[in-house]
Amino acid sequence: MALVGPPPLLNTSPLAAIARDLRDERSRTVPFPPGETRFSLARTRRFADDPLPLLLESYERFGPVFTLRLFHGNVVFMLGPAANHYITVSHASNFIWRDGHFRDLIGLMGDGLLTIDGDFHRRSRLIMLPAFHRDHIAASVDTMIEETTHALDQFTPGSSIDLYTWTRRLAMRIALRALFGLDPDGEPARTIDAAGLFEQALSFFSSDYALRVLRGPFTPWARLQQAARRLDTLIYAEISTRRATGARGEDILSLLLDAHDEDGSALSDLQIRDEVMTLLFAGHDTTTSTVSFMLYELARHPAIVARLIAEQDTLLVDGRPTASQLTSGALPELELVLDETLRKYPPAWVGPRRSIEPFEFEGIPVPGRAFVNYCSWASHHLPDVFPEPEEFRPERFAPDARTALPKGAYVPFGGGSRTCIGMRFGQLEIRTIATLVLSRFTLSLPEDFHLEIRQMPTISPKHGLPMVVGARGASVHADLSAAAA
Ligand code: HEM
Repeated sequence: MALVGPPPLLNTSPLAAIARDLRDERSRTVPFPPGETRFSLARTRRFADDPLPLLLESYERFGPVFTLRLFHGNVVFMLGPAANHYITVSHASNFIWRDGHFRDLIGLMGDGLLTIDGDFHRRSRLIMLPAFHRDHIAASVDTMIEETTHALDQFTPGSSIDLYTWTRRLAMRIALRALFGLDPDGEPARTIDAAGLFEQALSFFSSDYALRVLRGPFTPWARLQQAARRLDTLIYAEISTRRATGARGEDILSLLLDAHDEDGSALSDLQIRDEVMTLLFAGHDTTTSTVSFMLYELARHPAIVARLIAEQDTLLVDGRPTASQLTSGALPELELVLDETLRKYPPAWVGPRRSIEPFEFEGIPVPGRAFVNYCSWASHHLPDVFPEPEEFRPERFAPDARTALPKGAYVPFGGGSRTCIGMRFGQLEIRTIATLVLSRFTLSLPEDFHLEIRQMPTISPKHGLPMVVGARGASVHADLSAAAA
């Protein structure tokens, strides 16, 4: 059977989509779960600006499944370990991604792995899985080390940098090289600011809900489309060169170019473009946020940095990590910090879905064709599962404590058949960047810095992450001697 994608979404016109959502809502056969179901611009804005407190308050008031009316429609949220497991694993087949809350992402990514469902999703995933095999990912570590080392050469003690922008550019270079075999310094990549174009496209998701339904020049949608078309030139140029020259490598683009449907036909340029765009987005955006949040927390916890440095001093040879240490996660203190960072700040913070049929969760009915979201960010902040959730405590993930967590409690990479395909790649990249940064420098925050978080649609520091570069261990050693005195 040919790998044929889904039909175009009926909702290319946002107003038609809204009308259809309202019809679906009116024709429900069971009521929505309890919650705030009246239209409220203030609630919609609050959700867009700062969703976490609203979700946690609603959980306190209504329990693990509740409804919030956001902009034009009711959205059901299901929080906590059992809810995460229900949506991602045990009842995953009753939910689709494509028509969920983030469907506008299709305007950027098309029908790549993230935005498709059912059999098409299953078969597309099968084509890509070999590229994410452990051995294949391990082959990327040299590229990650080389790019990070080179990017760190720009750091000079005493200078200030925007760590978020620095990481975004680095992660994009790594994605271009390691995933697609593209030379970021060659033509045409050199002339295209891919990281900046993603920033431009994704700013659509931080614009006001009301503005997002507008189409036409100068709208957030037009900016998204403009950025997507420029990124297309880069992707299509590479596809056409590779097709013309037959050049192949160990990268995913080569795999996609040589992939065949079950009927033997090759993937079209458009299908390949959509997968590449999806992986470029997913492959750099989440890792950028995680590195930024990790280094933010470390700057506030010198005692944890001291443990990481002591670990490096014991385990690294000549102050440098080996490829095998990075791939196997052989720096256990760093693993705890990585896990805790992804608990407190899971970048892909919400799992947007649409229910197919009505269902019942813990005795509460939920209609079919309803927007239903699971939310790792809120689930990771439930105090009965993670006590004092605002505290950054890597030891929560010590082996015994981790084993004691209920099923579905910790889901930074989602779960079930849609578990993040790039999990190993992402973890390796974060480990590599963090290890190399810590092996050469100490980063601190300006005194007046206050972290605000935006969702675009992944979470990241709202105003970038200004940091001051210091010599390795400088402030940490000062802090420890103060503690000892
Ligand atoms: C810290 C790093 C990362 C985190 C926290 C993360 C998180 C996630 C989550 C939560 C999902 C599931 C979303 C849902 O249930 O709706 C997901 C899916 C996905 N991720 Fe990641 N991701 C990371 C890195 C990456 C990387 C590096 C790549 C590519 C190289 C990638 C590619 C994807 C793709 C293609 C999907 C869709 C999978 C499917 O539906 O079959 N991710 N990711």
